[in-house]
Amino acid sequence: MLRSLERERERGFRAFSEAATIAELEAAQVAILGRKAPFSDVQRAVGTLEPDDRKSVGRVINETRADLQRASDERRAELEAVAEDALIAADRVDLSLPGRRPRPGSLHPLSLAEDEIVDVFLRLGYRVAEGPEIEDEWHNFEALNIPPDHPARTMKDSIYVHLPGHPELLLRTETSSVQIRTMQSQPPPVYIVAPGRVYRRETADATHLPVFHQVEGLVVDEGITFADLKGTLDAVARALFGQDRETKLGPAFFPFVEPGAELAVTCMRCDGAGCPVCGNGWIELLGCGMVHPQVLENCGYDPERYTGFAFGLGIDRVAILKYRIPDIRLLVEGDIRFLAQFGASR
Ligand code: DAH
Repeated sequence: MLRSLERERERGFRAFSEAATIAELEAAQVAILGRKAPFSDVQRAVGTLEPDDRKSVGRVINETRADLQRASDERRAELEAVAEDALIAADRVDLSLPGRRPRPGSLHPLSLAEDEIVDVFLRLGYRVAEGPEIEDEWHNFEALNIPPDHPARTMKDSIYVHLPGHPELLLRTETSSVQIRTMQSQPPPVYIVAPGRVYRRETADATHLPVFHQVEGLVVDEGITFADLKGTLDAVARALFGQDRETKLGPAFFPFVEPGAELAVTCMRCDGAGCPVCGNGWIELLGCGMVHPQVLENCGYDPERYTGFAFGLGIDRVAILKYRIPDIRLLVEGDIRFLAQFGASR
């Protein structure tokens, strides 16, 4: 009996240490210490011994069972630790790669151009004025002397807003309406620029967008002359496109100014020699003129006492000229490869 107990102890230690999984260990536990195992047979046979032998063999049985149980428990703890390590390893997230930095944003070329234009005027002492993008016909047309039969006043050229009970509303076709709103809201003198979005019923192509941006300018004071207009706009054109630019004024018609003019600047590509961009060496930059006395009167200003000049400059146009953008539609397509080229970030 003692020999078979010794054999079972050896067999048990080996079986438990060889078990590679919890399931194998549990099978070994049944095979060594289970009810049908040789060990249990010995245990049952103890009852047939003499009382003295029963006592001594019984003690060995108890010691052996305790040793085997301890060996099994120790192995179980080892296997559970291994299983847990495997679970942790399976859950591992690899953080060893460098992270991806979010791209810092950059200013849109239109914002850059607008800031630059507005800054020039702020330095000259102007202030920034604003007006609504949905306008009524009076501010957008009538007050600006634009007659009822003017083509801009048709559905074909302007975008009307259909609000029941407000047949006269449209998306402003030019920032000139801010001239009217500014004069209505304050007495002279006026020195303002008004940057903003304008809308025309137009199909987009390389040089036109149906939604674009202008900076309107308005000066009204005592004794303002055409020389003030010329000096101011010449300085602005040079500030935007370089001090060696030349400018010239040519006649043009806009209903809200008299006389009206167009300011051209020598081409920044060819310096006025003539090239495919400009044709004859000159690039038309903006419309301008002396504020029409009727417009002053429409806003309650006394045209006998006050005179002024006004101008309207396309921001999109300034941007494509300054940054040599080949197609104006690039400004609104949102292509990150295009936008990322305008580095400065705020
Ligand atoms: N509003 C004109 C346009 O959109 C531009 C313009 C011309 C504005 C002459 C002016 C001006 O203030 O005096 O074509």
